[in-house]
Formats: sequence, structure tokens, C-alpha cells
Amino acid sequence: MKALVLTGGSGVRLRPFTYSTPKQLMPLANKPVLDHVIAHVRALGATEVCLLTGDWADAITEAMGDGSRFDVTLTYLRQDRPLGLAHAVQSARPFLGDDDFLMYLGDNILTDDSGEAAEIVGDFRQHRPAAGLVVQHVADPRAYGVAEVDTDGSVRRLVEKPSRPRTDLAVVGLYYFTAAIHRATDAIKPSARGELEITDAVQWLIDQGEQVSARRYSGFWKDVGRADDVLHCNRRLLGELRTDVRGEIDPASELRGQVVIEAGARVVRSRIEGPAIIGPGTLIEDSRIGPGTSIGRDCVVRGTHVSDSVVLQGAHIHTSRGLRGSLVGRFATVGPGEQGDPDHHFVIGDHAQIEMTVV
Ligand code: TTP
Repeated sequence: MKALVLTGGSGVRLRPFTYSTPKQLMPLANKPVLDHVIAHVRALGATEVCLLTGDWADAITEAMGDGSRFDVTLTYLRQDRPLGLAHAVQSARPFLGDDDFLMYLGDNILTDDSGEAAEIVGDFRQHRPAAGLVVQHVADPRAYGVAEVDTDGSVRRLVEKPSRPRTDLAVVGLYYFTAAIHRATDAIKPSARGELEITDAVQWLIDQGEQVSARRYSGFWKDVGRADDVLHCNRRLLGELRTDVRGEIDPASELRGQVVIEAGARVVRSRIEGPAIIGPGTLIEDSRIGPGTSIGRDCVVRGTHVSDSVVLQGAHIHTSRGLRGSLVGRFATVGPGEQGDPDHHFVIGDHAQIEMTVV
């Protein structure tokens, strides 16, 4: 089966990181979001996968390669501008042809622990509705596509980000389509926000009397839209790791819970409480690493504590106060100031976010 994975978009909500890297390459448990996505797409039965890229085509192509490590073939196509999910389908037409396909938003994480999504996709492939939606009950549906679904699973109505949602069923970023979707994406007009909306295309199918089905997924699902979402997904994916120690741990250090120490990492006089992962070439010295933490490759963490955080490649952290719930960018430095100086000294990038507690 074919799958279309969307990796364009603007990533405005995840600035400043998305000035230098696409959100689909943010590391979760030290692997890019797209690694988790493609592994899932493969588990759902897709072997021919198209990554539709935007401005970050080169970075994504370099990171993801030909797909052989996932046992899929990867094809890359370009979307000129992020003009909406239905526009993305139009842009991928040379790859899709008239075949049925899955569409997966490349910033969505579904852990699918119980194989529920796989079962739903299997059901869609068997019954071949014109479109198959995966939906989930959410507390506040206003930020999502929202579906009204009959008791037999037929979708009656679909609305994008309604201010007054009529149900609490949000559309998950995994869709099944037959070639009927191409007529729909060609028929619709841009929405008020100037995008060709996939919800409008699916609504067009409903209005034409085509079968659009929805199935409920109750497993973990989140998109990495904001920094908090990255931390949340990271915690969740760390929880699935099995302890694996390939780096060096000195006798004065202690590991507790599920901990991965990648090859070439060194842990000196420190305590690592899992779930946590320490990347290759990283030094952890005189520190405490708490649960829910991923430290990327070639970092130095010295004389501090870090918990519930994601630290990217090459960062240096050596501040006695420690960090919690933080996202630290590549080659960033968090260190102590001059002795006796009561002020903080920052070099803060555009759209950075700093929260300080007054003591
Ligand atoms: P969104 O999260 O809706 O949009 P975005 O990535 O532009 O983020 P922000 O709102 O913070 O600016 O996009 C969902 C996924 O679909 C994401 O992986 C990006 C991708 N996408 C495309 O590939 N093309 C598009 O035209 C759009 C709108 C999104």
C-alpha cells in the first residue's frame, strides 16, 4: 500500500526551533519524529511512502535516506507552499496515481500500543470507503477537524476548527483515501484562512453521496505542535524503551528504571533515573538526570540536574539550579554567571521562551 507523509507546513508554534530545523525532525527519545512516523506507517502495511516536503526538503532527505532502514521505499516530492492538506494531496498526485493510500501528518505521534490503528486501517482497506477517518474523543475539539458520526460509523458532517463544536470527535492525522479524493481536492475552493482544507474535500465527498467512514481510536495520539507537546511525546516514547547500556558508567554512578546509554556516552559520578536516554558521545558528570529526559549526542551535562526535558545535540548544561520541563536547542549553553553577580546573562534567539522563578 502507498502512504503519503506530510512534512511541509510552517511550524510557527514551535519557534525558535523551526527556524533551524523542521518540527518533523525534532528528536523524541533521540530519534526524529519522522522515524517514529515511518515505522508506524510500515506497521500499518505501507511499503511505498512519499515524503511531501516544503522548505526543509534537503534536511529531510538527508535525514531519512532511501527508506531501507524502515523496509520501505521513500519517494520525495515538493509542495511549493504550505497551502493546506488538500493542496498537499494535489501536489503528491504524481506519486499517488489512482491508488488507495494512507495520509499521515508527519508531526503526529500515535503509539498504537494495542494495534488499534492497524485494525482500523485493515477495516478501511477491506471495505474501501471513499474516505476513512480516524477519530478520537478530546476535551477541547476547537483546534481540530470535528466529525459528526452516525451510529453505523458513517460521517454526516465535518467542520474544521469550529468555534462551537457539535461533537467532541477530533480527526486524527491518519486518513485512508481512495482515488475519489482527487475529484474532491480539485472541486473545493480555499477556506477563509486561504488553505485548501482536507476537511472541505471530505465534506465534498459526503455531499456527493460518497461513503465516508469514521472509526474511533483510543490510544495515544498527539502532534508535536508546541514545545510542551514535544516533551509530552518524548515522555511517552521513552516509556517504551528497554534498558540498554552501551556507553561507560563509572562505579560511582547509578542507573534506575528504563535507561538507554548509547555507545560512546560516559556517565561519571551521576544518577540516571529512567525512563531516560543519553546520546552517543555525551558526558554526564556529577549530575542527576531525572525521568522523562532525552539528552542528544555530543552534549556535556556537568554538576546539575535535568528532568522531564529534551536536550538536543551538542548542548552544554552546567548550572547548579538545574532544568525541568525544558527544551534545549542544538549547541546551546546553559551555564553559571560570574560569582557574586545577581543578574542573569542571556543570548536569547527570536521567539525564545524563558521562565524564571524568583527566589
Ligand atoms: P499543521 O500543524 O496544521 O501546520 P504547520 O506545520 O504549518 O504548523 P503551525 O500551525 O505551527 O505553523 O500541519 C500538520 C502537518 O501537515 C505538519 O506535519 C505539516 C504538514 N503540512 C504540509 O505538509 N503542508 C501543508 O500545506 C500544511 C498546512 C501542513
